[in-house]
Amino acid sequence: MLAGGSGTRLFPMTAVISKQLLPVYDKPMVFYPLSVLMLSGIREVLLISTPRDLPLFRQLLGDGRRWGMRIDYAEQAAPRGIAEALIIAEPFLAGAPSALVLGDNLFFGHGLVEMLAEADARAAGATVFATRVKDPERFGVVAFDRDGRALAIEEKPRRPKSNYAVAGLYFYDAEAPTLARRLAPSARGELEITDLNRLYLERGALGVIPFGRGIAWLDAGTPAALLQAAQFIQTIEESQQLKIACVEEIAWRQGWIGADALQRLAEPLKGGAYGQYLLRLAQDEA
Ligand code: G1P
Repeated sequence: MLAGGSGTRLFPMTAVISKQLLPVYDKPMVFYPLSVLMLSGIREVLLISTPRDLPLFRQLLGDGRRWGMRIDYAEQAAPRGIAEALIIAEPFLAGAPSALVLGDNLFFGHGLVEMLAEADARAAGATVFATRVKDPERFGVVAFDRDGRALAIEEKPRRPKSNYAVAGLYFYDAEAPTLARRLAPSARGELEITDLNRLYLERGALGVIPFGRGIAWLDAGTPAALLQAAQFIQTIEESQQLKIACVEEIAWRQGWIGADALQRLAEPLKGGAYGQYLLRLAQDEA
């Protein structure tokens, strides 16, 4: 599942378009979280957005078939919180476990795929990812005991109990929609994803995977963060000559499409660097 937060911190850029459709360097922001689901091996995705922006996402991503995926769309009629995504997605999930990623969260680094596999392999409970930040009061915050077990989880606490922020990527067992229905709106009027995670914590069923120094987690939700994310992506892509979150490449590396399909996707884009990159991949393979 892919769901977005509000775009108020990026206003007026978001007055006419959702922030997840803004570019982060050479591709739309939404490609980054989508690629994380794909790297987790997820081929069936439900994208949840506002009635205003849903048609634009549909135009951009289509039904997913060209990438060997299925992408469905659902409206969140009003900004009633991230946890509502689980309720909206209930018919789509049809009793299956799920992963939820926020549309403005970027993840990059060594060992990411292994961490995703570890989260996905847990049969019961929920798994979240935590990373040290300088401004924990902006995020969900998780505190640990000496053995690294989660003790408490709070949304935007005024006095954070740790410096570990919870990233916008969550793996849930099949019970998550039922648990989400039990939540009451917070003071900001939202069903908080942190409250859902606390229900799992209270049952002893919340796993927390800390990102080590090998993983970069970027939240592109403010003007400064958006620019920094773009510069970060540009720097890494230019030095490695590999693209980050290139969904066509990932679909091909996952074996969901062949080199011939990759070539066909590249053709209409060959006037730009992105298309040239795809062509090179397809031709190297051939
Ligand atoms: C949301 C979650 C928060 C999480 C953050 C990650 O915050 O509520 O727990 O740490 O995403 O980006 P929001 O974007 O709603 O401020």
